Amino acid sequence: MIVLTDVKKSFGDLEVLKGISITIEDHQIYGIIGQSGAGKSTLLRCINGLESFQSGSITVDGEPVVISDQKKLHLLQKKMGMIFQNFNLLSRLDVYDNVALPMKFWGMKTKTPEAKEKIKGLLKLVGLEDKIHARPAELSGGQKQRVAIARALVLDPEILLCDEATSALDPGITREILALLQQINNEMGITIIVVTHQMEVVKQICERVAFIKGGTVIAEGKPEDLFVRPSKEVKAFLQEESGHLPDTGVNVQLFFNNESSDDPVITMMARELGIDFSICWGKLEDFRSNVFGSLVINISEKDKEKVLAYLSGKNVICEVL
Ligand SMILES: Nc1ncnc2c1ncn2[C@@H]1O[C@H](COP(=O)(O)OP(=O)(O)O)[C@@H](O)[C@H]1O
Ligand SMILES: [Mg+2]
Repeated sequence: MIVLTDVKKSFGDLEVLKGISITIEDHQIYGIIGQSGAGKSTLLRCINGLESFQSGSITVDGEPVVISDQKKLHLLQKKMGMIFQNFNLLSRLDVYDNVALPMKFWGMKTKTPEAKEKIKGLLKLVGLEDKIHARPAELSGGQKQRVAIARALVLDPEILLCDEATSALDPGITREILALLQQINNEMGITIIVVTHQMEVVKQICERVAFIKGGTVIAEGKPEDLFVRPSKEVKAFLQEESGHLPDTGVNVQLFFNNESSDDPVITMMARELGIDFSICWGKLEDFRSNVFGSLVINISEKDKEKVLAYLSGKNVICEVL
């Protein structure tokens, strides 16, 4: 478990983290989303001890992250693999030696039968067995990130930190890399922290997410709760507008989850209540393969109570706008 309590960090006069408190459970895929400059990379670097912070605390499995204790810090860093947007592969080394690099750093032999088996196993996991002797220049972006993932796993970490790992990749490749991360989380039980500015990333794989803005957490929870029914602040972050809603009558927003989204509630309501209304806005979204939706309808004032009673009877969450 990773626990951050009121973490504050400044670079000179610039306050970058203004009191961040989040808890990341073991085996979770946890998203940290925010626009460029929000402080996400700084936060990640504080978690793995690459960056110091002025106040608050960070613990990993109960152990505080303290930069001054180098010996402890190195052991902690061994527990954490990291991948980046630009892959950070060494161009003069082939795939095998790039993956083996952390072993070298720790003074381990990289050509023993055990090491070879380990590295070949990881290359199989990431789908690059046939590229074992290729140089980075011969690989596509997605393949380079796969090498970086294998390298991040070579010391058997408990935690994988991903800083904008898919931001340089096109949407199809992004989905493949995210599926691989999900597989690693599932099969190896590794906790994954995903830092990103891309909503799609959070929607596809994160079980929980923290929205960071100006160095503070403006919202935290399950992505489906935060994206489907966003608070004002999250809405502003998502820059989402529910279109131009009519200024006469009553606008009602309906929220559908996995169980309710199959039912034809809307047409049933029109028929059973004998009323008419317009549909003004709607969206359907996928969260880890679950569909969630939202719809805004415009009804006349006189039907308001009837409609709200009907919807609550059908367990549809709704809100008068
Ligand atoms: N080493 C540094 N020295 C001074 N300012 C920094 C340093 N690293 C980051 N910053 C500043 O901290 C803020 C947050 O940066 P960062 O954590 O990289 O944001 P994000 O990853 O969300 O884009 C930015 O304003 C950035 O310029
Ligand atoms: Mg960053």
